[in-house]
Amino acid sequence: MPRKVNYRIDYAEDYDYHDDYDYDHDLESNGEAPKEDQSVSKPGYWRCAICTYDNDNDDNLTSCDICGAVRIAPVGNSFEVKAVDDICKDPGVSVLAKSLFASLPRGKPKMAITMQRQGKFSDFQNAFNIPDSRQHINIAPFKFDRASPDDMVSAGKKSYGKDIKAKVPQFPPSKTSPVIAEKGKMKAVSNAKKYEASSSTSNKVGRLNSNDRSPISGSGVVEEDKIQATTSDFLNLKLKPSIYNQKNDVNGRKTASFDEYKPEPWMLPDQKEQTLPLLNLAIVGHVDSGKSTLSGRLLHLLGRISPKEMHKYEKESKQMGKGSFAYAWALDESSEERERGITMTVAIAHFETKKYHVVVLDSPGHKDFVPNMISGATQADAAILVVDAALGSFEAGMDGYGGGGQTKEHAQLVRSFGVDQIIVAVNKMDAVHYSEERFNFIRVRLGSFLRTCGFKESSIVWIPLSAMENQNLITTASELRLLTWYKGSNLLEAIDSFLPPVRETSKPLRMPICDVMKSLLSLGQIAVSGKLEAGAIRNGSKVLVMPYGHIATVKCIVRDSRACSIARAGDNVDVGLQGIDASIVMAKGVLCHPEYPVAVAASLELKVLILDITMPILVGSQVEFHVHHAKEAARVVKILSLIDPKTGKVSKKAPRCLTARQSAMIEVNLERAVCIEEFSKYRALGRVYLRANGKTIAVGVVTRIIHQ
Ligand code: GTP
Ligand code: MG
Repeated sequence: MPRKVNYRIDYAEDYDYHDDYDYDHDLESNGEAPKEDQSVSKPGYWRCAICTYDNDNDDNLTSCDICGAVRIAPVGNSFEVKAVDDICKDPGVSVLAKSLFASLPRGKPKMAITMQRQGKFSDFQNAFNIPDSRQHINIAPFKFDRASPDDMVSAGKKSYGKDIKAKVPQFPPSKTSPVIAEKGKMKAVSNAKKYEASSSTSNKVGRLNSNDRSPISGSGVVEEDKIQATTSDFLNLKLKPSIYNQKNDVNGRKTASFDEYKPEPWMLPDQKEQTLPLLNLAIVGHVDSGKSTLSGRLLHLLGRISPKEMHKYEKESKQMGKGSFAYAWALDESSEERERGITMTVAIAHFETKKYHVVVLDSPGHKDFVPNMISGATQADAAILVVDAALGSFEAGMDGYGGGGQTKEHAQLVRSFGVDQIIVAVNKMDAVHYSEERFNFIRVRLGSFLRTCGFKESSIVWIPLSAMENQNLITTASELRLLTWYKGSNLLEAIDSFLPPVRETSKPLRMPICDVMKSLLSLGQIAVSGKLEAGAIRNGSKVLVMPYGHIATVKCIVRDSRACSIARAGDNVDVGLQGIDASIVMAKGVLCHPEYPVAVAASLELKVLILDITMPILVGSQVEFHVHHAKEAARVVKILSLIDPKTGKVSKKAPRCLTARQSAMIEVNLERAVCIEEFSKYRALGRVYLRANGKTIAVGVVTRIIHQ
């Protein structure tokens, strides 16, 4: 069902594996609460169930000092204790799930998976280094003054990739249907010929669409809005168009001028096609807010998880004393995720609504996995921000770690990914007795923050729901306490109210590679997964695999476990490649049109918006640089100017440092070059994120590639 993707982020070594971990509201298989409170390690301390840190047992402590996970029953908070009791004493999942089985359509059995992940940590290190036996492998990729959680994640010895079970759709094996295979072959040959022909005659000047979402103008209405320079203002800043015409050679091949590109007719969307438009939907939010449970429940309700599968998840989760995670198990597939009860990598699943074929990107909420969240959710066209309504939990997402909970960080990030349509799913309303007052409180507080991120009020849909009790998911709520005050749409209707995303179909192919898989079945076949950000491919197309610049042929394309012949911008697919050595295909590379390669650069000029940082950014500051699925160590080498976010004009030249909520032009040098584009040319490949000490410190765009 869902496909886990490995973003090559290993787990932190010091992030202890905690076998005994359990939520204290989980039930033992006999339906009774666990006898021993596993969350308390020793008198005077409260052990965090997520990161196992022993916090002081302070009465006022509502969340973990280290990771911000909510303390389930904060001492002295009777409301919360009661709410938790409501969950604990009722084996809700079981009853609800069983009651749903009978009425739901049977899902298709899972396909057998026999794919093996390609790439170890050493490959990650080697990425972008031309293979050279004399080269020394640097084991520590980042050199920060102080080790950030991301450092530890990167340098961790535990290879998460080894444990993970790849849920990758099987590529059509060449032997299965001789007819199809033969057809495919013929097609491939003829397509390749056509491609050659069209490539060699592509001298006409093609017009490029400037087709990303229109900029958003936010309107500050509350105090918070006034003090902070808004992201929307930042996003409104005009970028100087500087289309650089590439005439460079990649491995000796001639490359064409970007302006000369003209898409072939098959690359453009076929109006006659009866398929639903695709919507890449990121599910984001603070740790434990219920993202995976919500996604799993939706998939189950929509018949994408069969009753048999659901029954299995339910049984197994109960056996492990984690009954409440039954729905989350559909997305959290690795043994480590299930044991810990947290999502670590983005899971991909599919379902259909009346209007869309939805690709669900269920993100991890824990702060240590923000890099994974970035890598997965950058593919999003729209997002559901899940917040936990329970008392103390919502507050932790907003205020944890000195104001930097993941509700805020994720909201800020998805807006900077270009997402401007968002549903706020106020989950766990059952835990607050479906209180209208609580919902309104959350709406006012979070709403003002979302406006500062650049979301328009009219583009935010607020839905009170309960994933656990199936309220307001795909039908109108049945809970009277909710019905008395909420008359709005349910989650499925809200998803259908999203405007269709605009795609870069008339630009040359760009598909950032988020994962590489090597098939065991047909040796020599390599498959990559990711979202086509621009252009199109079909069976037989020649693609340029960057950064090494080798040509491969598309052997097959799989979307939602089904083979398809064409994939266009916006599609989230697995692509089988042939004619290329597996060792030079890597996650964080990009598939390109053979004549229009992506830039590979290490020296960049950026326009950035500084987030809520406490330490100023100086010339020489070390940062982690993120773009699409790539992450690289970088250094700020120049602070060129401060920019007035309202006017977009330079307000101060060469300031000494950058502080929270300032907009600025800077120059960064990366330790190793990455596949990147100027924002004005390809938005998805020109959006960047700077992180340090486990926090996102700036979002920005590439304004100029200084050296290629
Ligand atoms: P991460 O991916 O680790 O960030 O967590 P998550 O946001 O995916 O949360 P997950 O779905 O794993 O759920 C966390 C806990 O919240 C589980 O114990 C769920 O049973 C519980 N939960 C989820 N939805 C609801 C809900 O609607 N009501 C109640 N009471 N509990 C819920
Ligand atoms: Mg999850």
